[in-house]
Amino acid sequence: MLLYLSWLALLTPLQLQAGDSIKGNIENGKAIAEEKCDRCHGTDGVSDDPDTPHLAAQSASYAVKQMRDYKSGVREDKNMYKRVRKLDDQQMADIALWYESRPLPGVASAEDIQLKAPELVSQGDPSRNILPCSICHGKDGKTVAEEVPILAGQHVDYLVSTMEYFRDGSRNNDPGGAVQAIIRKLSDVEIVAIARYYAALGGRPAD
Ligand code: HEC
Ligand code: HEC
Repeated sequence: MLLYLSWLALLTPLQLQAGDSIKGNIENGKAIAEEKCDRCHGTDGVSDDPDTPHLAAQSASYAVKQMRDYKSGVREDKNMYKRVRKLDDQQMADIALWYESRPLPGVASAEDIQLKAPELVSQGDPSRNILPCSICHGKDGKTVAEEVPILAGQHVDYLVSTMEYFRDGSRNNDPGGAVQAIIRKLSDVEIVAIARYYAALGGRPAD
């Protein structure tokens, strides 16, 4: 119990909340996305390239934060920096709302596909102070709060590489370092198993 109370303190900097805090013009977002983003992220934000994350259905609040972080360099990626550096906050919001409105094809629930969640996802590992991923990302990887990304259906390769970056600290834009603190404790085998689980919840074969 004490353990979980101390973990709750981690949730506070994340200011978990439900609701739609992002406002904008979806049609404008669509126009910018088609011109500048779909080439890599795919039509309607469903990407063919395993290293390029899907943006379809992703929380707009999360996506806007990532764009701002790329622009300011808090999240380092030369390619994405180039794509967002000329966008203002309103354009970012517009694009993010457009992608959030796009469905990921055939998102399944764990029950639908009779997939058993890895223990780390559903129960965490109290002996290593690892919180269950599900308390923030949701049982089916579809998130419990707008600041937390949807993981269901995301590409395995992208999930693995971004977790490796959290683990070695080269991705460190998570509020309060809360995600790094968790991922740092995962082995290679655990990272791949979790990535495959979340990817499979997209209802398509894991790539
Ligand atoms: C040249 C290919 C390319 C283009 C064009 C591109 N992106 Fe990306 N984008 C990527 C790659 C690759 C990543 C993963 C980078 C990383 O590991 O940090 C990414 C990551 C992202 C993320 C983070 C997603 C997540 O789950 O954390 C967002 C948001 C994003 N891009 C939005 C955009 C928007 C908006 C545009 C258009 C203005 C755009 N991208 C244009 C390749 C591209
Ligand atoms: C306390 C809440 C919380 C817990 C528990 C948690 N996460 Fe997260 N996770 C987040 C937040 C918030 C972000 C977004 C960080 C940011 O702003 O970049 C995130 C980001 C991620 C991302 C990046 C997704 C993307 O699109 O780039 C992955 C992958 C991830 N978490 C995996 C996990 C795994 C695996 C676990 C369990 C072992 C876990 N998380 C546990 C809150 C949490």
